[in-house]
Amino acid sequence: MSGVRTERDGAVVHLVLDRPDKLNALNGEVLRALTDSVAALEDDLDARVVVLRGEGRAFSAGADISGGGFGGAGSSGWAARRHAAGGWQRLLDRFEALSQITVAALRGHCIGGAALLAAACDIRIADESLQVRIPELAIGIPLTWGGNPRLVREIGLPLARDLVMTGRIMEADEALRSGFVQRLVADLDEGVASCVEELLAMPDAPLRMTKAMMSAIGRAQIGAAAWADADLIAWSPREPESQQAAAGYAARKRGRKKT
Ligand code: COA
Repeated sequence: MSGVRTERDGAVVHLVLDRPDKLNALNGEVLRALTDSVAALEDDLDARVVVLRGEGRAFSAGADISGGGFGGAGSSGWAARRHAAGGWQRLLDRFEALSQITVAALRGHCIGGAALLAAACDIRIADESLQVRIPELAIGIPLTWGGNPRLVREIGLPLARDLVMTGRIMEADEALRSGFVQRLVADLDEGVASCVEELLAMPDAPLRMTKAMMSAIGRAQIGAAAWADADLIAWSPREPESQQAAAGYAARKRGRKKT
């Protein structure tokens, strides 16, 4: 089981994060499955729209924190660890550069890396249950995966600072006002279906050219800011202050579950 399910409906490909019992937390298997899907989509001109959603009550609770999996741990050698730590960032870069129009369907928790995955999509649609949170700092590492420049691009520097530096929750109505989501709908499936219909009604090549243009503008805004994110991921968990923060975060999560 890869943690990602792919469904095909004519010109529409649905990528479904499929670990509902773990709130679709993003682990290595999910990374590999999404990377394979993106590789296939790069050469699939019959696919015109990609819908990304999560199975169950949440889009995704972000990076899987059950195994302390940050930092490319387990890879031998500095270069290999650095490469492993950069996997999600490389995926987001490739995902953003797809020629298809990508639509994120967001409900419930959209945390950390999941918010970045959503931020790499062209159009984000949510229902009222959406809650966005960026807890990386509390876990003891700076936000990585190209997250800071990507969030700044999508919602502006002042709000990105607030969300990243405080880890507070952004509810659905604020997500709409900020531009993090472009559409807030009562019924997520219906809202996504009508957006997909609008996209499919457009002529294929001009739409792809427009996507390519928008995507190039967006990627230019990310610039060189995130060149060392993999190094931050690989290095932070070795620092005692980071380890302490991560242990405190995990203890608070366990404590919350007991009460
Ligand atoms: N990594 C691994 N497992 C996760 C997870 C994550 N990021 N988020 C949730 N899960 C698992 C829980 O451990 C639990 O599994 P279990 O039933 O085997 O114990 C299951 O998903 C359901 O989560 P639970 O905490 O019971 O649901 P909740 O509704 O009470 O709380 C959250 C939801 C999202 C508030 C809470 O799960 C949470 O804080 N998760 C961590 C989010 C996070 O810090 N992500 C890292 C981003 S960098």
